[in-house]
Amino acid sequence: MKKIATLLLVSLSLFAADGYKVYQDNCAKCHIEMISKAETLQKFKTLKAPPMIEVSKQLKNTIIIRSEDDEVHRFVTIAFIKEYIQNPSIDYFMCNAGAVDLFGVMPAQSRLSEEERQAVAEWIYDRYEDVDFN
Ligand code: HEC
Repeated sequence: MKKIATLLLVSLSLFAADGYKVYQDNCAKCHIEMISKAETLQKFKTLKAPPMIEVSKQLKNTIIIRSEDDEVHRFVTIAFIKEYIQNPSIDYFMCNAGAVDLFGVMPAQSRLSEEERQAVAEWIYDRYEDVDFN
């Protein structure tokens, strides 16, 4: 019985994509993971995209949900991120307009699977939960 449970766990984890790994392989070359606000201002000219901590904070603050259930906010924000990385658009970006002027609209990351998009979107939402962007 124990063996079957272990096998099940191993096969489940084979299918679940690792959000941080998806980020490292596909997003890190443009989005720095961690940086302070002051450093961002200093390094502005060398950046290729807004740092991921800023993207995460910005989306979470911009999306306001009437439901008091935090899971609803998490679900909607993750759904937006999943859609945006596949279909970025000047019509509905939520990051700072100055950033879009500077960097342009993000190129679509269309080679990612549904699982990888879900995993990286969850990672973006959860990664900075207890981190201040100051
Ligand atoms: C070639 C550089 C590049 C790569 C690679 C890249 N991005 Fe971006 N991304 C950008 C730029 C530039 C912006 C800011 C303009 C915009 O919002 O479209 C951005 C913005 C975003 C936003 C904010 C969307 C909004 O509402 O404005 C999210 C979320 C995001 N990226 C996620 C990702 C994820 C996840 C990956 C990896 C799977 C990724 N990006 C890979 C350049 C990149």
